[in-house]
Amino acid sequence: MASDHEVIKIRDYDDNIDKIRIRNLERICKVGQMAPFLLMDTMGDPICRIRNSPLFKILVAELNNELVGVIQGTIKIANCCSNLKDIPRIVGYILGLRVSPLHRRIGVASNLVRNIEKWFVANGVDFAYMATEKDNKASAKLFVDKLNFVKFSTPSIIVNPVSQYHSKSISSNIRITKLTTDEAESLYRKFMGTTELFPYDINNVLEKNLSLGTWIAYHQSELCSEFQSDSPPPNSWAMLSVRNSCGVFKLRVGKAPITWKTYGKTSRFINRVFPCMKIRSLSDIFNQFGFYFMYGLYCEGPDSGSLVHSLCQIVHNLARKCKDCKIIVTEIGGGDTEKLKVHIPHRKTLSCSEDLWCVKALKMEEQNTISELIRCTHPGTIFVDPREV
Ligand SMILES: CC(C)(COP(=O)(O)OP(=O)(O)OC[C@H]1O[C@@H](n2cnc3c(N)ncnc32)[C@H](O)[C@@H]1OP(=O)(O)O)[C@@H](O)C(=O)NCCC(=O)NCCS
Repeated sequence: MASDHEVIKIRDYDDNIDKIRIRNLERICKVGQMAPFLLMDTMGDPICRIRNSPLFKILVAELNNELVGVIQGTIKIANCCSNLKDIPRIVGYILGLRVSPLHRRIGVASNLVRNIEKWFVANGVDFAYMATEKDNKASAKLFVDKLNFVKFSTPSIIVNPVSQYHSKSISSNIRITKLTTDEAESLYRKFMGTTELFPYDINNVLEKNLSLGTWIAYHQSELCSEFQSDSPPPNSWAMLSVRNSCGVFKLRVGKAPITWKTYGKTSRFINRVFPCMKIRSLSDIFNQFGFYFMYGLYCEGPDSGSLVHSLCQIVHNLARKCKDCKIIVTEIGGGDTEKLKVHIPHRKTLSCSEDLWCVKALKMEEQNTISELIRCTHPGTIFVDPREV
């Protein structure tokens, strides 16, 4: 705890005085404990990650007039458990928690979280939830041990570098169609509507200008005409959506092993001089870079693995055209993660094996739903809202 004469003051974010101070704070706050760690640059716009959410707030912590911490919260309506599909819940998401390294372990983060919880409660929130890297011990201990959050899911974050030199080919037997926003919304509501934390305003997610679209893949042999969202789906099919996060914020690898740097430079050189060799290159991720986020990945049927793979290749080819996009990121969860991962191109060294999602009931009567939520998390069908990345 801060001493008596050093009272931690929590207040609402003020654009005029906090903008630059938050940027400076983010620059010195690494996220996660393991090297290589990622540093985030919001490019001078602290609200960039949350402005597309229905309701949002930023709180800052000050100590002796110095900005020492920041937290963000968003509120939306979402599905909370497959067995309770008819009862939407108001959920609050906590993100962007940062405390200056010089002011840690004096209660700044706990204070910020408790205050964002108060804002949630004032807005009728049933559950608060947050995600952190499983390796981030400080964060996990803070939320689970200190603030009574409960672990409920450990999805995998998987990352693939974009090759500037080689486009990926797609089998001629596979048909890939880009859906309209209405078609995508209707398919998501039908097939993923009961997935945990599925946003009720999915239409907003799909419509926002950062969304690049939704694609569906199926085998040519299965349908003789175009896929229609209101007709029965093929035996095997897959779909996913893509968000361009490059304009929202940038990332930088904070402490890359020297071997990565050497490999990155060498592979880029060889690919430039001998493009026909097609060696796996490591994108230039040592400077600032942006990323595409694949979300709403859903597949069904015995042959859906190759369809998922083809959709990822389409996304890769799309990402090649974006100068700032150096990696493609997705998050998958549940029991089928390992099976699905095989079909999603990714680089192990860049991927974080497990993310940790924690949840907390903010209303007494919701305690039972928490147990239900932990029990019924569906394998492989997690819906990660791209607004919360
Ligand atoms: C995680 C972080 C926000 C904690 O901030 P903080 O102000 O130091 O946290 P608090 O002082 O409120 O700590 C509250 C409790 O969290 C736990 N905790 C915090 N830091 C810890 C650490 N380094 N190791 C172990 N436990 C830790 C402890 O249980 C602590 O209670 P205690 O001090 O009574 O033992 C801070 O370390 C940080 O900004 N890290 C970098 C960014 C990040 O990882 N953000 C989280 C993303 S979700």
